[in-house]
Amino acid sequence: MFLDLNCDLCPLCRGRTRVVAPSGDYSSPVVLVGEAPGEREDLSGAPFVGRAGKMLDRLLEEEGLPRGSVMITNVVKCRPPRNRRPKEDEVQACRPYLEDDLKGKMIIVCLGKTACEALLGYKVTLKEVANQTFTIALGRERIDLVPTYHPSAALRNLEAREGLRATIRLILERFPDLQG
Ligand code: URA
Repeated sequence: MFLDLNCDLCPLCRGRTRVVAPSGDYSSPVVLVGEAPGEREDLSGAPFVGRAGKMLDRLLEEEGLPRGSVMITNVVKCRPPRNRRPKEDEVQACRPYLEDDLKGKMIIVCLGKTACEALLGYKVTLKEVANQTFTIALGRERIDLVPTYHPSAALRNLEAREGLRATIRLILERFPDLQG
């Protein structure tokens, strides 16, 4: 892993407890990309272990996609103060780590607006792009990208929950071997 667990490339290093490394199967064709670690992730060092993570776990389980069969990461690897959205310079500083996470993947699933905008490179309205397939260029690779709702939105909003569920089904249609 290329991620530096003592990274000090941006000011988020000053407030963090731990750098949060990706979890799951690093060699999976599928990567889920969230926004940034929250409090529980900052304390444990693993992504999506708090309330949003429990919602993600529940939907993955209900649809039969084992969490350990995909890779899970974030746009920035350190918790922003008071869980604010990461700033553009923080996203840019962390970008080499994110690009390393995405190498060799066949599908990038962007959980929420921050991940979608960081990887598509333009502003989006989630409702308009959710569950469509885009293609992005990363170095010489072209990789499919599917925007979807963030699990924290799925906690409060049924449309987001069903949208995220539809994304999990779409992953399983493309990669039936991942089924638990
Ligand atoms: N929200 C995110 O975007 N990522 C996490 O790891 C946890 C909550």
